Amino acid sequence: MPNLKNDLLLRAARREPTERTPVWMMRQAGRYLPEYRAVRAKADFLTLCKTPELAAEVTIQPVDLVGVDAAIIFSDILVIPEAMGMELLVEEGKGGPRFPTPLRSTADIEKLDAAAAPERLQYVYDALSTTKKQLDGRVPLIGFAGAPWTLASYAVEGGGSKNFETVKGMLYDAPEALHALLGKLADATAEYLVLQTRAGADIVQIFDTWAGILSKDAFLEFSLPYMMRIIEHVKANSDVPVIMFAKGANTDFPELAASGADVLGLDWTVDIGEVRDAVGTQVALQGNMDPVALYSSPESIRAEVRRILEYFGNNPGHIFNLGHGILPTVPPAHAKAMIDAVKEISVEIRAEEQE
Ligand code: CP3
Repeated sequence: MPNLKNDLLLRAARREPTERTPVWMMRQAGRYLPEYRAVRAKADFLTLCKTPELAAEVTIQPVDLVGVDAAIIFSDILVIPEAMGMELLVEEGKGGPRFPTPLRSTADIEKLDAAAAPERLQYVYDALSTTKKQLDGRVPLIGFAGAPWTLASYAVEGGGSKNFETVKGMLYDAPEALHALLGKLADATAEYLVLQTRAGADIVQIFDTWAGILSKDAFLEFSLPYMMRIIEHVKANSDVPVIMFAKGANTDFPELAASGADVLGLDWTVDIGEVRDAVGTQVALQGNMDPVALYSSPESIRAEVRRILEYFGNNPGHIFNLGHGILPTVPPAHAKAMIDAVKEISVEIRAEEQE
């Protein structure tokens, strides 16, 4: 990997041996850091995403402050539906981002402009190239996008949801409409990720946050094939590894491992050693500490890190992470305790088993 002083993440993603286990955290650039809140006090969330200098600043904060082995570009998965023509609102204290005019009909879906979306996201590519320059090879830079199924859930529900009855209504009553929407989201996202790699992303992650609300059949029909379409396009047009995080899709490891992804992200409910046994050496694994464990004492955090590293064992292909995003009220010192523990204990484990 030219010009990278720390390429542990990329080697682990390719299942090459590493001196220690690389570690980063989903949502690592965010509200648990006072330094992030200070930048956010000056700009609303979407302005932050759309101002490359500010996005680069908060992207690099966790590298400096907690010592992660990668930076993930500061942005959001919902910029894709926005770039396809949907109005996106992120208002203070209103329960997360929302689409005030959600998709409800085939006509709504037909209006979405998938072809124009990738070029409308120039601010993301500018944030990536600015960040890449400022990182100066210290750690790899992760690009990302939402999975078509997760994006469709937000675009059809209009925001977060408890039971997802509107998008599931479409799934059961109008599957052709949902397939049309998923196809458009996949096409836009595939090209978006390729353009992210051209702007400096060393690796990309697909977030399927809502994979786990689908039945097995529905996941295999409405989510996985669209992620595979994206992976195929990224692989055909770049040489970066792809991480697929299908949260809660825990009955589908053989299918996930055969998807073309280099790395599978795991939530905290599974035993990473059992998953490793199930998928063999086809893919690397990322995860999988319970994000809520970061509220416990540094000693308990260390014990939990050790447990996960030992379950994975002294094998290539582990990227340590949380099983979902870090929560906004976690003390930064606890995040740092986890990261330091991964760095120290993974070296011990490698030494022990070589004796
Ligand atoms: O990981 C990182 O640090 C990079 C930045 C990043 C954000 N969102 C910033 C953000 C990433 C990778 C995301 C992905 C994302 N966005 C997902 C998938 C990952 C996951 O956590 O499941 C989803 C579902 C979204 C949609 C989204 N954006 C929601 C539901 C929310 C509100 C909930 C919340 O955590 O506040 C957002 C807003 C958002 N995206 C914030 C951040 C830092 C908080 C906004 C703020 O600063 O006020």
